[in-house]
Amino acid sequence: MRITATKDLNSAISSELVIAPVFEDFIPEMTMSALGEKEIPKMATRAGFKGKMKQTVFIEANGRTFLLTGVGKRASYNIEALRRCYAESYSKLKGTGTQTLSILLPGVLDGEAFEAVYILRVSHYYFDTFQREKTTFPDLIIQVVTEKGQDVIDVALKVGEATNYTRDVANMPPSRGTPSLFEKMAREIPGIEVTALGREDFIKLGMGGLEGVSRAATEPGKLVIMEYGPKEQKPLLLVGKGITFDSGGISIKPSEAMDEMKFDKCGASAVLGIIKLASDLKIKKHIVGVMPLTENLPGGNAYKPGDILRHYNGKTSEILSTDAEGRLVLADAISYGVEEFDPYAVVDFATLTGACVIALGNNIAGLMGTDEKLISEIKGAASKTWEKVWELPIDQDFMDQIKSDVADIKNTGGRPGGAETAGAFLRHFVGEKPWVHLDIAGVAWTQSKTVKTPYLPNGATGFGVRLIYQYLTEN
Ligand code: BES
Ligand code: MN
Ligand code: ZN
Repeated sequence: MRITATKDLNSAISSELVIAPVFEDFIPEMTMSALGEKEIPKMATRAGFKGKMKQTVFIEANGRTFLLTGVGKRASYNIEALRRCYAESYSKLKGTGTQTLSILLPGVLDGEAFEAVYILRVSHYYFDTFQREKTTFPDLIIQVVTEKGQDVIDVALKVGEATNYTRDVANMPPSRGTPSLFEKMAREIPGIEVTALGREDFIKLGMGGLEGVSRAATEPGKLVIMEYGPKEQKPLLLVGKGITFDSGGISIKPSEAMDEMKFDKCGASAVLGIIKLASDLKIKKHIVGVMPLTENLPGGNAYKPGDILRHYNGKTSEILSTDAEGRLVLADAISYGVEEFDPYAVVDFATLTGACVIALGNNIAGLMGTDEKLISEIKGAASKTWEKVWELPIDQDFMDQIKSDVADIKNTGGRPGGAETAGAFLRHFVGEKPWVHLDIAGVAWTQSKTVKTPYLPNGATGFGVRLIYQYLTEN
């Protein structure tokens, strides 16, 4: 795939196929000049095309083929409508044999060129590593008609590639997507410093959470630290939950849908993808990524309900369920990252609670935090990407709900407010640092029975990569 930006509409429409947006109540200037004012309504009406959201139709005009793409009513148009409508039209390219393609834009919103290219990249994702028959997509030569420069296109492609890279590692089967695979992939990213702590190392450092959860694991647990960028700046600290398979441990999960617990490493996958992107784009920021990685399995030597673990910052937790393991490993990773790197802000990603899925569904991540400024920056960035967030509270009552009789805190506060008490638990490990916690349990992979979003494939979504890219460009 080769994509170039061009300002020249005439040369662009010499492509074999031209994607041209049409509103229900308005024809964008580019579409108008490409097709001629009178022609579109005539031809489109004949084909029953009204410009409704995600409606598409192929028409022949001036000896060329156009793919008219409905983008709905002008008043309700926004960047999400562009994402969904363009993803829909890209899906129509398969099997057309097209080799040269031009993309015209509505020309209504800033950021359309970036988004159209990013969505092109992420809507053509296939996890076919383990399939004999590979899904191929035509190797297209593409022109995007825009006033923006080539740099915008190139960056959009890289952000899309990093999103797909995150999907690749997150989709790995649990016996392949191991802590060692994460370490190996981290070491392949150019221009970063990687430290991998093994079991002996993290025990020595006092990481009782990671020690307990990884005790019955067969794949060796690890804490992998990646450092990118200028060290004279205070870093942004990113922490990602990396449970490469969550069986629940002794508090074992029911077997139905347990296969989906290979996705319990999506937080770490996002952090790995963001660091990869920072390296690809040579982003001029200091970023540290920390990934606590282990499988959570039962066994005669497994940690048990009733156990008490001591975390890196000295606080102890009473284990009521070995299935509330994510917060235990994050506790060590966050407090280590905070102490070791003195970050200006901390953002963690975790497929942390089923409760968050029940509360917010499969298209919105739960956001919790301590710092109004950082919270509004992350919310602001999310509002420009497809990665929606919604704030949940961590108030004193939730802090009280996890007080323990025998340790400092307990690892579950029962079912009520399950996402918030998990957030309250993590709060004990961030100290005074501005911090945002993103519970991505509902959004990190597409789960069965939910409404399909056209640019999201089955399996891992890559949630978080585009979001943090946006945050980094704005702050
Ligand atoms: N990884 C799960 C959370 C999860 C469950 C994500 C389903 C996506 C779908 C996490 O480790 C977990 O098991 N959480 C428990 C916590 C409970 C025991 C307090 C949960 O949510 O049930
Ligand atoms: Mn669990
Ligand atoms: Zn888990």
